[in-house]
Amino acid sequence: MKLINHYMDSTFHLEDKLLEEVLASIRAHEMPSISVSRSSGKLLTMLVSISGAKKVLEIGALGGYSGICLARGFGKEGQLTSLELEDRYAQLAYRNLSIAGFSDQVTYMTGAALQSLEKLAEEQQRFEFFFIDADKENYENYLNACLVLAEPGALIVADNVLAGGSVADSEAQPKRHTDTMRKFNETMAHHPQLESLLIPIGDGMTIAIVKK
Ligand SMILES: C[S@@+](CC[C@H](N)C(=O)[O-])C[C@H]1O[C@@H](n2cnc3c(N)ncnc32)[C@H](O)[C@@H]1O
Repeated sequence: MKLINHYMDSTFHLEDKLLEEVLASIRAHEMPSISVSRSSGKLLTMLVSISGAKKVLEIGALGGYSGICLARGFGKEGQLTSLELEDRYAQLAYRNLSIAGFSDQVTYMTGAALQSLEKLAEEQQRFEFFFIDADKENYENYLNACLVLAEPGALIVADNVLAGGSVADSEAQPKRHTDTMRKFNETMAHHPQLESLLIPIGDGMTIAIVKK
């Protein structure tokens, strides 16, 4: 998987000065280097753009790498709501989104995402695009919460669903999230409200359309 991802990233010339600086800022703040892969980020931009989504929800901001990719997809006309546990991560993400030109188009909600999702539901907010990329144990809970907030036809995208490829290899030593991701993929694949598929990009992304 590493080889294929390296090939994709290098062949498609995804050099992007601003995003490289975001990654450098994450390292400088001694935050984990767990942003989406370069190709995954580009896919997010393309999916938001193709779908025409203007109201986007992200679960797991870190330093704003995927947030910038999502916002680039809607350009001048959308709004990103981003949920992040750590206040200092959200602050860096906001700084990076501002450098990218999206300061007026992003709102960070800090604290446990499940609580923020409850608040958004109470406010009867609705979204057209969801990106799930936080604590893996809660992916099923996040999916259920996203379905409450979803406009018909919304897209729900989840990252790291291959758990380093381990979900597909019954002989490999299971990783920390192998079983969680296998179960989550089964749920996505068979969910009556979703049309889903898994794209082996980065650490794997499941993409689902909420049926109308
Ligand atoms: C993989 S990183 C997100 C990377 C980001 N999406 C990107 O590609 O730029 C996961 C993030 O989820 C956050 N997180 C973990 N548990 C969370 C929770 N319960 N609620 C909200 N955010 C959480 C972490 O602090 C971390 O910033």
